[in-house]
Amino acid sequence: MATVRLADYRPAPYLINRTDLTVRLFADHALVDARLAFSPNPGAADLPPQPLVLAGLNLQLEALAIDGIPHQPGAGELGDQGLCLNTPPQRPFELSNRVRIDPHSNTTLEGLYVSGGLFTTQCEAEGFRRITFHPDRPDLLSRFRVRIEADRDTAPVLLCNGNCIETGDLEDGRHYAIWDDPFPKPSYLFALVAGVLDEASDTFVTASGRTVKLRLHVEPGDLPYTAHAMASLQRAMRWDEQRYGLEYDLDEFNIVAVRHFNMGAMENKSLNIFNSKLVLADGETATDGELERIESVIAHEYYHNWTGNRITCRDWFQLSLKEGLTVFRDQSFSADRHGASLNRIDNVAMLRNTQFREDAGPTAHPVQPDAYQAIDNFYTTTIYEKGSEVIRMLHTLLGEETFMRAMALYVSRHDGSAATCDDFVQAMEDAAAEQPLGASFDFGQFRRWYHQAGTPVLEIQRHWDGERGELELHIRQHTPPTPGQPDKLPLVIPLVLGLVGQAGKALPLELATAEPATPATAPLPPAWGHHSRLVVIDRAETRLRCTGLPRQHHPPALSLLRQFSAPVKLTIGRPPAELVHLLAHDSDPVARWDAGQQLLRRALLARASGHVDGQLEDELVDALGRILADPSLSQASRATLLSLPGLAELEDAALEAGQAPDPPALFAAVMALQRHFGTALREPLLRLLDESRDQWPLAWPQGQGDRQLGGLVWRWGIAAGMESLMNEALQAVRGTSMTLARYGLAALQNHDRPQREAASAAFYERWQHKPVILDSWFALEASAPFGDGLARVSDLLEHPRYDPNAPNSVRAVLGGLASNAPMFHAADGSGYRFMALQIAALDQRNPITASRLAKVLSRWRSYGPERSAAMHDALVKLANATLSTNTREVVEQCLAD
Ligand code: PHE
Ligand code: ZN
Repeated sequence: MATVRLADYRPAPYLINRTDLTVRLFADHALVDARLAFSPNPGAADLPPQPLVLAGLNLQLEALAIDGIPHQPGAGELGDQGLCLNTPPQRPFELSNRVRIDPHSNTTLEGLYVSGGLFTTQCEAEGFRRITFHPDRPDLLSRFRVRIEADRDTAPVLLCNGNCIETGDLEDGRHYAIWDDPFPKPSYLFALVAGVLDEASDTFVTASGRTVKLRLHVEPGDLPYTAHAMASLQRAMRWDEQRYGLEYDLDEFNIVAVRHFNMGAMENKSLNIFNSKLVLADGETATDGELERIESVIAHEYYHNWTGNRITCRDWFQLSLKEGLTVFRDQSFSADRHGASLNRIDNVAMLRNTQFREDAGPTAHPVQPDAYQAIDNFYTTTIYEKGSEVIRMLHTLLGEETFMRAMALYVSRHDGSAATCDDFVQAMEDAAAEQPLGASFDFGQFRRWYHQAGTPVLEIQRHWDGERGELELHIRQHTPPTPGQPDKLPLVIPLVLGLVGQAGKALPLELATAEPATPATAPLPPAWGHHSRLVVIDRAETRLRCTGLPRQHHPPALSLLRQFSAPVKLTIGRPPAELVHLLAHDSDPVARWDAGQQLLRRALLARASGHVDGQLEDELVDALGRILADPSLSQASRATLLSLPGLAELEDAALEAGQAPDPPALFAAVMALQRHFGTALREPLLRLLDESRDQWPLAWPQGQGDRQLGGLVWRWGIAAGMESLMNEALQAVRGTSMTLARYGLAALQNHDRPQREAASAAFYERWQHKPVILDSWFALEASAPFGDGLARVSDLLEHPRYDPNAPNSVRAVLGGLASNAPMFHAADGSGYRFMALQIAALDQRNPITASRLAKVLSRWRSYGPERSAAMHDALVKLANATLSTNTREVVEQCLAD
């Protein structure tokens, strides 16, 4: 399969000034007439003449004309990837054509397809070519005008981008609507929806006083579940005005919820299309976590209107230009709304369990990749979350004020055009150059973050001179090899650190010397924790000396990577007592949480390899007990400080400790530690449970910390065998709060007890007619770690309410299986084989979802010999099947050495 390379990028030979479409929708096919106004691209004038390539997939060409003169494609012009005009006119011309397509049998969910009777589209990244012949590249922006025709009864609502400028009736019970989008856009932002939809509407008055009509379109019957999404949209719009000075630019903004969707949501200009699970919600149908996620995705898609749509990507290698930046923006919105620290902790935990894992495996790639086969495979946590971390580091290094000036510069320079990641960094660099002292780091070196894959490691050694009160830090950085990148260069790493004295107070940190000299940076705002210092690590080795510290036997506790100031790993031998001290006193909430996480990881790794570190666990019980009793902490903070690290992260930690991770043993260790904590902390846990209950009925976001803590007490208490909590959890599943119901289910999930069975049955009974909610039941059933798991999963795949064409359901069941450590990682390889067969079958219908799922087999090298061989076998079986380009690329990356 052909590899696309960044190095091969060339400006297009022709610009498109206009894309005019007429889309006629019928009960069993669709006809698309397109008129494309081309003109030679002055930006390509000095390149040798190139053919004009119009991509097209699964299109039946019915007519083609150039400037109105019918054109019969000659030999070699029409292939299965599209149309190639070898000698196009060297002047402006119009190409018109008609194609017939088959949306009803389109299970790929790319291009135009039908979801539950609704015509809908998905064009990012390369879906437009499944609708009509088009260059379909993001650097070609054109004005779109679209006429939609359909049956009035089955498709009363006709939506497209921009403004609706005309509607009317046609013969035979049909009607039409014409939409005009005044903003030139790339084809990937095109969208069209037609069908029966209910509408929730409201308005938003922009800062400059324009009234925007907001409309949310959902399947009939779902209107009661739209208020949260609407309110989220209004909050998101206001925030972007206040923080970035960015206003909405059209008179209407539409969101459509569809059941069948490959991803979360899509930012099509003024017509966002959402996976219905990210729209439909209220307190009874969605958990606190889901409500927060919906709010953040609504914000994310809306923020794309500027960072993505008004300024788009030159080519798909620049994907992080819009995605990393937009994630950074939506994270800032959520942080402002829900508290920066807990929000940051959630994001860090997620980064460690997903992105760090990707960065350490065979599909690792830089934030700006330089080659791909299927671009869909690069909608990854590296592009999104690491991309956002890179921007966050710029924010940390430059400070809020300069960063915001740089953003404004970026927007004003590139509005209305297609840009590159480098254009973005250049705007940052230029704004920094205007600061009195310039930037404290080298931008050229900083750019390496975009090109080097892998998670950098900071290895820290310290020397403490207690008699003089002097601390020396020796910091080495290196980035491990990743596929195609054996050697790495030093990066610019903002390391925020602080010292915590014996009495738990922050100590002023004075850097006496630094080698090589590290430029001082502006003092950090208070949110960084008391007496925090930012040190820019930009060499392979750095030495720091801090003087004037208290003369004492033990060094002050060293708090590192405050606010998780860089997406790196640390290796430093900090003894448990020091981490316990930080867990009790660190004024930076993220570093404080992280100290606890390290202790918990150690305890869990010890248990997984068969011995209980009694002393460490006793210290942990004491420390956690103090957190539970600390009156200055919120319930949410307590629950967060006590949450156990994820399995992915534990596997990584095992590898770093030189052991082959044994997922079932890690899983058992988590259960055992929960049981131990549930027993040892029984009194304070039950007391807090009592205190929290009163707040449970409060509506989100109120009461969420109390519910979260309740869920944790249930989990630990039930693991410790407390029957009364099993009954309470079961009652919650029958109650009116989805958050509590799901905490109840989660707490019972791993215990083969009658209450679990009753809870599962009650949940199914109640929600069987709500597919979005039932997916969470499918996931729970698929991940139950007892009984004949594979037989149960097979039954789920045959379940009458399972929809094999809904990626949400597929991910619920097969993703549920992948997260079921004892079953998926069964030593006989049965879990891997089963998964490989399912992926191969799914790939026939939906390559995008299949190739994303195939990544669950990527870590085969990291498990012990038996599992490695079995997972490798499964991959080889998969490689021998007939596969899409998407899945083939992932499988080959996994198998490559
Ligand atoms: N661009 C979408 C987003 O991040 C994600 C997406 C990609 C959706 C490809 C569909 C297809 O907001
Ligand atoms: Zn996005």
